[in-house]
Amino acid sequence: MNYLTFMFIGSLLYLSTTKSKFCHELEGRVKRDFHPLRHCQRSNKSVIAYMKVESLEECSDFAKLNRGLAFNFSPKGREKNFFATNATFESSELEEFYNCEVLDCPEYRNFSSIVNDTRFDYYSLYTRPLPNERALCIPSVGMFVLYNKRSNYSVAYNICKSIDGTLAHIASDIRNVQLSRLLTSATKASVKERNAYIGLNETVRGKFLAPFNEPLECFNYRAWAPGHPKDIRKPGCVALTPDGSWKVFNCNRKLLFICEVNTSGPNPFTVNFNQTCNIKNPNNRFIPKLS
Ligand SMILES: *[C@@H]1O[C@H](CO)[C@@H](O)[C@H](O)[C@H]1NC(C)=O
Ligand SMILES: *[C@@H]1O[C@H](CO)[C@@H](O)[C@H](O)[C@H]1NC(C)=O
Ligand SMILES: *[C@@H]1O[C@H](CO)[C@@H](O)[C@H](O)[C@H]1NC(C)=O
Ligand SMILES: *[C@@H]1O[C@H](CO)[C@@H](O)[C@H](O)[C@H]1NC(C)=O
Ligand SMILES: *[C@@H]1O[C@H](CO)[C@@H](O)[C@H](O)[C@H]1NC(C)=O
Ligand SMILES: *[C@@H]1O[C@H](CO)[C@@H](O)[C@H](O)[C@H]1NC(C)=O
Ligand SMILES: *[C@@H]1O[C@H](CO)[C@@H](O)[C@H](O)[C@H]1NC(C)=O
Ligand SMILES: *[C@@H]1O[C@H](CO)[C@@H](O)[C@H](O)[C@H]1NC(C)=O
Repeated sequence: MNYLTFMFIGSLLYLSTTKSKFCHELEGRVKRDFHPLRHCQRSNKSVIAYMKVESLEECSDFAKLNRGLAFNFSPKGREKNFFATNATFESSELEEFYNCEVLDCPEYRNFSSIVNDTRFDYYSLYTRPLPNERALCIPSVGMFVLYNKRSNYSVAYNICKSIDGTLAHIASDIRNVQLSRLLTSATKASVKERNAYIGLNETVRGKFLAPFNEPLECFNYRAWAPGHPKDIRKPGCVALTPDGSWKVFNCNRKLLFICEVNTSGPNPFTVNFNQTCNIKNPNNRFIPKLS
C-alpha cells in the first residue's frame, strides 16, 4: 500500500507538470449524460447526496459532481405523493423535502427497487437495455461484465465492442480496487489463471493506451506489479491481477477479461414527462428488456 501511495504521489508530481492540453481535450470527448427513464417513479437505490434544486439541469450537475450514476428529480408542483400510505405520508411530512436525490447505482435487470412516487421522475446514465444479464454495478463508477471465458486480447476487445462497450478503464484508485475485488470474488483461488484483461495495451512498445486511445500519461494512477511493465519483445496487453496490480502479457495469451458497459444515450422508448401523474394508469409501464 505504501508502495502504491508512493508511486501515486510520485507520478502526480511528475505528471502535473507534463500533462498536456491534449489530455484535457480527451476528457471532454467522452460524454456521459443523464436521460429520463421513469415518470412518477423513483429508485430506492442508495442515496449518496441530496439537495434542493431549482431545475433539472442543477440536479444533473449535482449528480455528476457527486459521482452519481442515476438520480431522482421532483419538479415544481409535484410535492405530493399520491401513492403514499398514511404511515409513509406522515413520516415524510416530518422530514425536510429534497427534490434531487443522487444514487450510487442505476436500476438494472428487473428494476426491482423502483417505487411509485408521484413526486419524482427517475433519470439514469444507463438508459438503453443492458447487453448482458451478468452486468454488475460498481457504485459511483459504472457497469461492468467479467467474462470468464478466456480469450486473447483482440477477441476480448471485440467482444466488449460488440456489447457496445470497451475493455474496462482502469487508471484510477477506485476502479483498480473495485475491479480487483470483483475478480477476487468471482474467481476461485484454486483456479490457475485469475488475471483479467483490462483497457490498457501497447500499440508501440512503451506507449500504453487506455480505451478511446487515451495515452496512459493522461492519468495519474499506476498499479504496475513489481518488474512491470517488463521488456517483452512485442507490444503487450495489460491484465489486472486479483491483488490489484497490473501485469503485461503477450496479447495472444488467453485470459479472462472485464468489459465496461456503455448503455448511455436516449432510451429506446418514449414517456411523456409532461403528462400528469395518474395513480390508476401510471405513465411508467415500460421495463426495458434484455436484448
Ligand atoms: C427502500 O429500501 C430500504 C432499504 O434498502 C427498505 O427498507 C425499504 O423498504 C425500501 N422501500 C421500498 C418502498 O421499497
Ligand atoms: C388514511 O387515514 C384515513 C383517516 O385516518 C383513512 O380514512 C384512510 O383510509 C387511510 N388511508 C390509507 C391508505 O390507509
Ligand atoms: C430482481 O433481480 C434480483 C437480482 O438479480 C433478484 O434478487 C430479485 O429476486 C429479482 N426480483 C424480481 C421481482 O424478479
Ligand atoms: C405502481 O402503480 C401501478 C398502478 O397503481 C401498479 O400497477 C404498479 O405495480 C406499481 N408499481 C410499483 C413498482 O409498485
Ligand atoms: C489496443 O488498444 C487500442 C486502443 O484502445 C486499440 O485501438 C487496439 O486495437 C488495441 N490492440 C489490440 C491488439 O486489441
Ligand atoms: C485470437 O484468437 C482468435 C480466435 O481464437 C484467433 O483467430 C486470432 O488469430 C487470435 N489473435 C491473436 C493476435 O492471437
Ligand atoms: C456511449 O454511447 C453513446 C451513444 O452511442 C455515445 O454517444 C457515448 O460517447 C458513449 N460513451 C462512452 C463513455 O463510451
Ligand atoms: C413538455 O413541456 C415543455 C415546456 O412546457 C415543452 O417545451 C415540451 O415541448 C413538452 N414536451 C412534450 C413531449 O409535450
